[in-house]
Amino acid sequence: MKVGLLTGGGDCPGLNAVIRAVVQQLTNAGATCVGLLEGWRGLVQNLTCPLSIAQTDGIIGQGGSILGSSRTNPYRNPETDLASLRENFQRLELDGLVVIGGDDTLGVALRVSKDFGLPVVGIPKTIDNDLMVTDFSFGFDTAVNIVVEAVDRLRTTAESHRRIVVVETMGRHSGWLACFSGIAVGADYILVPEVPIDLPHLIAVLSRHRAAGKKYGIVIVAEGARFPDQGPLTLDDPPDPFGNPRLGGIGWVITEAIERQTGRETRCVVLGHLQRGGPPSAYDRILATRLGLAASRLVLQHRFGTLVTLIDGRIIEMPLSESVAAAKTLDLSYYDEAATFFS
Ligand code: F6P
Repeated sequence: MKVGLLTGGGDCPGLNAVIRAVVQQLTNAGATCVGLLEGWRGLVQNLTCPLSIAQTDGIIGQGGSILGSSRTNPYRNPETDLASLRENFQRLELDGLVVIGGDDTLGVALRVSKDFGLPVVGIPKTIDNDLMVTDFSFGFDTAVNIVVEAVDRLRTTAESHRRIVVVETMGRHSGWLACFSGIAVGADYILVPEVPIDLPHLIAVLSRHRAAGKKYGIVIVAEGARFPDQGPLTLDDPPDPFGNPRLGGIGWVITEAIERQTGRETRCVVLGHLQRGGPPSAYDRILATRLGLAASRLVLQHRFGTLVTLIDGRIIEMPLSESVAAAKTLDLSYYDEAATFFS
């Protein structure tokens, strides 16, 4: 049996841990693994590399993806790209495909499995934790910890200078990353896309904390947070091949408003891609390994058109369906708990 592996979309810590687990289990069973480089581009352009246990030894703690990643969407130029994708799949004599990705990459996995019967098993990943198909995705825990470490550092300089620091996090249109890290750092205020920005309330809370003797402030704002009746802020770059705009900039808007309305020195820190880099946390290494082992078990059992996911603490199999592309917004019970500290 010959199995291809690809990682698509925004990278995240834990991808290499998955690759290692898949390669180990499939090799144990006598199968051969082939790496498809840079997401779906690898299959469209026949960019491959061999994958062996020796090559994947020691990568469990390495960030990024040894296969590279991209947001290539073969359905964008279906006549050329889909044709070469199918041709290369046959030329490589693949019997199965393990696809590790977020909503867009898994959406393509669903389509190629439905349209052409390609034997696919999916594994969800994203630092945003915004996938309906899983309770938590690997990459998320690491990203939360990166934000927490950054804010722990920002707190000391904010305190020395009696400043307010606004920290913009990633997360696309969901507030999981902002809310979880905001809770973990004890933020003075958290802004998430699911709750329209209430600027007067934010200013009132910061002023109250100041009056109570707090000399600095930490505000966490998700990149997708927005004012009532306003769409999310986007950067000037063109959207990616799946039509996703680049978000960013709301941190600066909030910073300027706070400084103007409170008269206090305020600084903005946009954490950006730092949140996706570096080694995965122990939790993400373990989750990614379990998912990789579960996915390769499905491959060996020829249970294609499926994905593996974490539900209620257990790794389970579910069919690849339209729900792979469904977005999961923040469970507001977490926000309500967080808001106890700034209500
Ligand atoms: O989906 C992961 C993510 O990091 C989002 O949080 C962010 O909006 C986006 O990807 C950034 O994408 P890019 O790496 O293409 O700039």
